[in-house]
Amino acid sequence: MKVLALNSSPRGGGHSKTELMLNHLVDGMRDAGADVETIALRNKKIKDCRGCYTCWTRTPGQCVIKDDMTVDLLPKLLQSDLAVYATPLYFHSMNGIMRRFLERTLPTMHPFEEQNEYKTYHPMRYRLPKSVWLSVCGFPEESEFNILSTLLHYIYDREGLELVAEIFRPRAEFLVSRIATDTAEDILAATREAGHELIKSGHISGGTMARIKQPMLERSIFATITNLAWNTCITEGVTMPQFQERKMVARPDSIETFMLIMPLGFNTQAADNNRVLVQFHFSGEVSGSCYFTVKGDGVDAVFGTSVDPDLTIESPFEVWMDIMTGKTEGPQMLMEGKYKVDGDLALMIKLFEREKEPTAA
Ligand SMILES: Cc1cc2nc3c(=O)[nH]c(=O)nc-3n(C[C@H](O)[C@H](O)[C@H](O)COP(=O)(O)O)c2cc1C
Repeated sequence: MKVLALNSSPRGGGHSKTELMLNHLVDGMRDAGADVETIALRNKKIKDCRGCYTCWTRTPGQCVIKDDMTVDLLPKLLQSDLAVYATPLYFHSMNGIMRRFLERTLPTMHPFEEQNEYKTYHPMRYRLPKSVWLSVCGFPEESEFNILSTLLHYIYDREGLELVAEIFRPRAEFLVSRIATDTAEDILAATREAGHELIKSGHISGGTMARIKQPMLERSIFATITNLAWNTCITEGVTMPQFQERKMVARPDSIETFMLIMPLGFNTQAADNNRVLVQFHFSGEVSGSCYFTVKGDGVDAVFGTSVDPDLTIESPFEVWMDIMTGKTEGPQMLMEGKYKVDGDLALMIKLFEREKEPTAA
């Protein structure tokens, strides 16, 4: 089966989450034996449709504009059995690049009008491949895609066009974060599975679709972390793609947000099969206490003071946040007496050892 996969994200350099999802879908399709060509539309010259209707009159089926759409993309689309339209969600719908692509498919239709029970449409001049639509968005609600989905159903509800699947993934920016990594991995594995199923059976099973759409974390937690990350970008003068690329840490601004972000910085393997209790007492701009129970399989965060902690860290809030976000070095600050530690220093070094890159929240 010949598949043409079109990605309309303007983001290059591996930052596009549309591309990330599409790559997994395409991998699954290839595993199932499909011959897939992927094209990033951002690299193609696609001019706006002029609305001249020359493709319906003087040059039937041929657009007068000579660009990548007429020379390369439309011929490839017409030779495919299946097309995957992958777009980031912009203002609740497909983005401008994808819309421009679609508008330029006007030569594939006749000018004449036909009608079904619900609507009037132009009959097809050429056979278009079956379609799969894939979209990702920033917000957590699945309902973000309602307008795009309604639009697609309206477009495809006619003779000569077939929509075989809609794959929508909310909160897609978190697919590359260290938050909920297991869930992110499962979403991507399910997307790959979906590609396999589409080629083998022509549709995506309910179970696979449910895995693609599964929630990642409670939505208000994401909102808090996202807001901290934007604030960090603004303060540090970096773009969000740079923040993600440099695996920067969202800087907490309160004990509550510290309790959300700090667990991602612990090397849980240092706890082996034990539980390690780490107590923080903060002073300065933000003062208060909280503690973490670090176990091999995760970290629990609790407000207040624990009984008998293994490690106690007393620090001005700003000093620890500078260490956490990599602005200053922890050992150096300790030597300079900027914060105090009570407990096993070797354990502390192990706990904060960064086996992987620091947290990208
Ligand atoms: C101009 C613009 C409009 C957007 N509109 C929405 C939107 O309506 N709903 C939403 O949840 N996310 C919206 N987003 C966020 C993107 O959908 C999200 O960042 C997505 O992951 C981008 O995909 P990409 O990485 O493939 O480019 C918008 C982003 C931009 C730049």
